[in-house]
Amino acid sequence: MPDLSLEQKAALVVGGGFWATASVEEAGILPVVLTDGPHGVRLQRTRVGALGIASSVPATCFPPAAGLASSWNPALVERVGVALGEESRAEGVGVLLGPGVNIKRSPLCGRNFEYFSEDPLLSGELGAAWVRGVQSRGIGASLKHFAANNQETNRMTVSAEVDERTLRELYLSAFERVVTREQPWTVMCSYNRINGVAAAENHWLLTEVLREEWGFRGLVVSDWGAVEHLGPALAAGLDLEMPGPQNDSVDAVVAAVRAGELDQVVLDTAVRRVRHLVDRAGGEFGGASGGEDSSSSTRFGAHHALAREAATESMVLLRNEGSLLPIDTAQAVGVIGEFARTPRIQGAGSSQVSATRIDTALDSIGALAPVEFAPGYSFDKRADEEQLRAEAVAVATRSDVVLLFVGLPAEDESEGYDRANLDLPVNQLRLIGAVVAANPRTVVILTNGGVVSLEPWHDSVPAIIETWLLGQAGGAALADVLFGRAAPSGRLAESIPLRVQDTPSYLNFPGDGDIVRYGEGIFVGYRYYETIELPVRYPFGFGLSYTTFAYSGLEVSHRGSIASVTVTNTGSRAGKEVVQLYISAPTGGISVPRRELRAFEKVSLDAGESVRVQFTLDSRAYSYWDVVSSGWVVAGGTYVVEVGSSAHEILDTATVVLPAPRPGRLTLDSRVSDFLGHPVTGPILTRAAAGEGESKNTNLLEMVSSMPMRRLMRFPGVGESFKRIGVLLALANNSAVRGIATFFHKR
Ligand code: GLC
Repeated sequence: MPDLSLEQKAALVVGGGFWATASVEEAGILPVVLTDGPHGVRLQRTRVGALGIASSVPATCFPPAAGLASSWNPALVERVGVALGEESRAEGVGVLLGPGVNIKRSPLCGRNFEYFSEDPLLSGELGAAWVRGVQSRGIGASLKHFAANNQETNRMTVSAEVDERTLRELYLSAFERVVTREQPWTVMCSYNRINGVAAAENHWLLTEVLREEWGFRGLVVSDWGAVEHLGPALAAGLDLEMPGPQNDSVDAVVAAVRAGELDQVVLDTAVRRVRHLVDRAGGEFGGASGGEDSSSSTRFGAHHALAREAATESMVLLRNEGSLLPIDTAQAVGVIGEFARTPRIQGAGSSQVSATRIDTALDSIGALAPVEFAPGYSFDKRADEEQLRAEAVAVATRSDVVLLFVGLPAEDESEGYDRANLDLPVNQLRLIGAVVAANPRTVVILTNGGVVSLEPWHDSVPAIIETWLLGQAGGAALADVLFGRAAPSGRLAESIPLRVQDTPSYLNFPGDGDIVRYGEGIFVGYRYYETIELPVRYPFGFGLSYTTFAYSGLEVSHRGSIASVTVTNTGSRAGKEVVQLYISAPTGGISVPRRELRAFEKVSLDAGESVRVQFTLDSRAYSYWDVVSSGWVVAGGTYVVEVGSSAHEILDTATVVLPAPRPGRLTLDSRVSDFLGHPVTGPILTRAAAGEGESKNTNLLEMVSSMPMRRLMRFPGVGESFKRIGVLLALANNSAVRGIATFFHKR
């Protein structure tokens, strides 16, 4: 790159500020602004605080990922992405730092509000939709945090010890789906190490997998403060260290190149990617319009309406005994809980935005029906909780129906630290007991970014809505659902366990010091609960509506690549159903979850209406990651295709038989079982081992089946009887010889 000096190049691979890339004016290289976040634009125009947390410009606060994911609606998420892209452009932002697609390995993770799901397909599809929307407005996305950043405890130093199959099937899969589908402009590497190697310096992750396997063509940016040694990071595939400027980093890069420790080609490659980002950010859509423009009020108005629509689809109706909901406006409504008056609309940390306006539930409900309010509890620890509880009980006693708002106070969950339990605060648990005793017609409305336990009060409460964190329009959306002006259609994107001890990662979360063993492997969330048949309070994919649905006529054709099913609204109200397709793979040979989500579609149906939903399934839907061949393999056998309304509620099934993969080349290091399973050598060996007459020894081979052939042949007496092993290998590995042998074998 002749037009830049070594020093200028080195400066470009380090941020020019907390939120911008560097500029080289003499070369016409302008800075690009990168800022958070996944559910709203957090742009700080004032001087940045030490940790980059300061007040930010007004922006629409959409439901954070935990809520948005519960919509199971990629089209809606894409529209939110478009809105975020528009607000980014208006503020002169070039890259919006999202989406976060890390898997919810444990419900204790303090940052789960910012992630989509325990399932990689749902995370990947929604993450791809978010990227598609944002980038459609000429704003780059930053897919994060790559990879295996599944906890906040010691996040900058822990090593996620994860086997490759688990990485591929669970922790990389959502990133792969987004990268291969949408080519995000940037990918953000995570703070942590993966199997001992820092993500920022992980050549396997950033180059071999991300670029060489998945074909990523964008720029890899570090999480803020994730780089320890910029030279090795550049060599591994990182392109930009944030934040900047880090003068010692620049000097170190210059010195490393001059000393021949860092290849100039590596630096030029990173600089080329930075310049490509600059060009894109300044391209057709790009170019900061900056600051407020006259249409911002119009834009914010439209985006607030979209935030309300998104919130409506995000909340999950978990329980509605006796159809207590929807309530009618003639009823005397008791609204209890400070969250109704002081809503928690988002999570804490780098994603926190300054909402343009907030609809509280109390105001929104009060606009529809006469209400009486009591705070019931306080976020101020000095408050008189007993007095507050007594006031709440009095209101409950006078009400026809009680709307009881409980949830996690802001300090209970955040970026930067994890939770110690899944419990609601003690004062709120006491309040639930007192209010339900005073008035059994109580609806509990939950506000929380991460899963909370519904015990022990669950059975005493006839109706429960999990709203997660609903963004700035959540109060109005909730009022719409409570009074039936909108129907609930959210589905759980994460299982709700009965106990935290039941969670699959419980014994390995948050790990021992800096070592976090992903001992549960691929058995995360419902993959665990359904496989060991462990009851949960509510399963992945669960959610009620104000109507009911039936499934019929599941058909699978074209060797399992097409599946279709009819869904009917069998109730008296319009509603939306999330049709979920799972596949249950045969268990022979390798461990597999009871079922895995392989497709889904949200459909809107009027009362009595039916629709035929069709899914296209590729081979990956039937595959597992084979660590021996380092690739995706369809094991072959009988697969059960299941459609249902949750990971536990399967409503129709169909089977498909798929062929086993052609056997790989046999070698002396292949197991005896590989020889036995081979169509040519199997029968030969079985006959040879059976022996003659009474010496038939049918379980001899069973006993040695897991041994490598080379080791078996070292046993006295075995070697010579296998002296024709070379013939066996020729038969197995030579297609011509194999064809002849098979022909004669079959005669
Ligand atoms: C934070 C977060 C990341 C965010 C970045 C900039 O530490 O991990 O998600 O985009 O730094 O705020």
